[in-house]
Amino acid sequence: MPHTRLWIGNDWAEARAGNTFETLNPATGEVIADVAEARAEDIDVAVSAARSAFADSRWRRMNPHKRSRLLWRLADLVERNADELGLLETRDNGKPYFEARRIDVPSVAQTLRYYAGMADKVQGDTVPVPGPFLNYTLREPVGVVGAIIPWNFPLSMAAWKVAPALACGNTVVLKPAEETPLTALRFGELAAEAGFPPGVLNVVPGFGETAGAALVRHPGVNAISFTGSTEVGRTIMRESAETLKKVSLELGGKSPNIVFADADLGQAVKGASTGIFYGKGEVCAAGSRILVEAAVHDRFVDALSARAAKATVGDPMAPTTRLGAIVSEAQLDRVTGYIEAGKREGATLVAGGDRVSVNGRGNFVNATVFRDVDPSMAIAREEIFGPVAAVIPFDGVDDAIAKANDSLYGLAAGVWTRDIGKAHRMAAEIDAGTVWVNTYNQYSPASPFGGYKESGFGRDLGFQSALEKYTHLKSVWVALDG
Ligand code: NAI
Ligand code: MG
Repeated sequence: MPHTRLWIGNDWAEARAGNTFETLNPATGEVIADVAEARAEDIDVAVSAARSAFADSRWRRMNPHKRSRLLWRLADLVERNADELGLLETRDNGKPYFEARRIDVPSVAQTLRYYAGMADKVQGDTVPVPGPFLNYTLREPVGVVGAIIPWNFPLSMAAWKVAPALACGNTVVLKPAEETPLTALRFGELAAEAGFPPGVLNVVPGFGETAGAALVRHPGVNAISFTGSTEVGRTIMRESAETLKKVSLELGGKSPNIVFADADLGQAVKGASTGIFYGKGEVCAAGSRILVEAAVHDRFVDALSARAAKATVGDPMAPTTRLGAIVSEAQLDRVTGYIEAGKREGATLVAGGDRVSVNGRGNFVNATVFRDVDPSMAIAREEIFGPVAAVIPFDGVDDAIAKANDSLYGLAAGVWTRDIGKAHRMAAEIDAGTVWVNTYNQYSPASPFGGYKESGFGRDLGFQSALEKYTHLKSVWVALDG
């Protein structure tokens, strides 16, 4: 396993203090590799490399068409190495191989190509100011971007941050999650192969409290782009205050998936099922609160439970597997802890609810559905980040809106109805960064993604949102009567 050290200045490096940490395969419990562990002194080296690259005319003055070509070439390399990347992701994260290979990796190539198309379109405006002046704006890169990403979609999250940051002319220090560092490291190496100059993309595996925190505090880092828990988001905001970094936070969720009685019920059951069980429920936008209109509630619950019972838990490499391994033992404990809390608080378990082992090992939980969930219960309020659905009944549009918005979070929502007016009213009334109507879990690099309320602020993906996040806006005044 060659990609296990720090990737700095287009080269592999050991951690200064020589520390390493193990990354495990959650489906087997086996150690995949020992990975170099970046600490504050290594973050210093990586940030210096990124600062030098930012100052270097090879990157700073690079023709934007060429920047575009480099991103495109990186997309080609991701595709050329798709089997390897998919396999690495599956081993490190535990997700089914077909998801990693057929969904995650292609979406990474797509994201890179979308931002390849942006690189030569980063431009300002001319502004009609009064008086004898010409005023125009320039969009300039912010400098060094610190990207801190989670373990649920390691390579996709790397691409969501790195592609727009590079398209806008920044340089990046990327800190992958300690659970899943491997694909990000390989991605760094592929970027060098694509032709990005040394220091433009650096990858520093390590722990949050050390490597992540050092990146957040570092005076040489201009912006932090974070995806992860709300708790750590709060810490990052606090810690970055000292150096006044430009911060964007994509945090947790407890997204409502709302099924009206007039919906195509078959489609709604399917959508609710993939909404919560895709990616083992380790998805920030997981539709974990399923709100169902009273008239169809019992029928819906029966159909959802039957579907959950058929979701095969198994070896992530097996093509029949729908639910892979939960990423870590800590996360497994968290998920099973919530299942116990659901039972204790009086919800009725109608599917799953068990820890299972595959070939006698691994961190697996089967697809779990609770009914009779009161909105005050922990399983209705807190992010579980596992395959656990909480079904809550409602009566009519107003009750649906009230229950949907009764959350500290506001990341995403689903609405299932055949009534077009109702669909648009719900889309307008729900406090969430994304609303899906008669579908769920749709993403495109062209469409912005991010949260309201304690799901954070700032948007990943999209064009305008990338400009806002990864560029400064400069206003230039020129006297015309001088
Ligand atoms: P986390 O928020 O601790 O980890 C995410 C990333 O932040 C990792 O790269 C980690 O190393 C880094 N990090 C941690 N502490 C940091 C600090 N003080 N400064 C800078 N970086 C830091 O998430 P964790 O502990 O892995 O998962 C706990 C819960 O968080 C999950 O059960 C889930 O509910 C939620 N979560 C939400 C995600 C989302 O996409 N919204 C992703 C991951 C976790
Ligand atoms: Mg953590």
